Amino acid sequence: MPKKRNINKMPAYLDLAQSLTGMILALFISGHILFESTILISKNAMYNMTLFFEGYFFFGDKYPSIITFLAISVLLILIVHTLAVFHKFPSSYRQFTLMRKHMKQLNHHDTYLWAVQVITGFSMFFLASIHLYTMISMPDQIGPYASSERIVTDMMWPLYFLLLFAVVIHAGIGVYRLIIKWGFFEAKQQKFMKQRRALLRTLMYFVITLYLVIGTASLARYIQIGYAHDFEKGERYHPQTKIAQE
Ligand code: HEM
Repeated sequence: MPKKRNINKMPAYLDLAQSLTGMILALFISGHILFESTILISKNAMYNMTLFFEGYFFFGDKYPSIITFLAISVLLILIVHTLAVFHKFPSSYRQFTLMRKHMKQLNHHDTYLWAVQVITGFSMFFLASIHLYTMISMPDQIGPYASSERIVTDMMWPLYFLLLFAVVIHAGIGVYRLIIKWGFFEAKQQKFMKQRRALLRTLMYFVITLYLVIGTASLARYIQIGYAHDFEKGERYHPQTKIAQE
């Protein structure tokens, strides 16, 4: 009777969990940056976006707890994603130096992208946790003024700036690697494989740049609002206020 081999399926499950949670987070952040960039249209547009996420247009009243629920869900997905990725990291200094040696020998663009992802992912986890904690604990403090006040008076802009770069680069490279890994963009003929990959890489750099430009412009607008208006601490935006009509 052939001996039954005991195959450890855990790495495969972790890999799948990493891909799925990564995809969800990438979709979330691409929506997030666009929703939040409504400030570039007007204060009113961002105000309405906030009302939308507070459920105002569905329930006729504001429920900031919806935002708390969303933020807790995102935090949990982020934790699962991070834990699922851990099994791929070098677990000792010896493994780390060996990996660096291999990377230098290979000099492979995609291997360097992996290293960038490790660095951005590590920073992102800490920076995003701080931001998510704010969203969980103060879901009613979001809006054209409340957000600008947090960004300027509470000095959140350096954190957002670093987080923006870390998350956009991390998500961009992550999606590129996912597409390659699961073979979504593969050419039928081997000879076109290299061109396909180069095209995908160009697309990745384009999307990363686009999101960085939108994110930086939005952040600049929040900073501008924060400095331009001498609003009293805690003053909330309302479409009928004098400043709102500017
Ligand atoms: C449900 C969860 C989340 C909510 C409700 C939320 C909401 C917000 C809001 C309202 C702002 C504007 C500034 C402020 O009010 O403080 C903001 C900014 C920002 N958020 Fe989030 N966020 C969430 C999760 C995340 C996550 C998970 C990331 C990244 C991993 C992230 C990255 C950013 C960045 C980079 C900015 C600055 C944007 C810019 O430069 O335009 N957020 N977020």
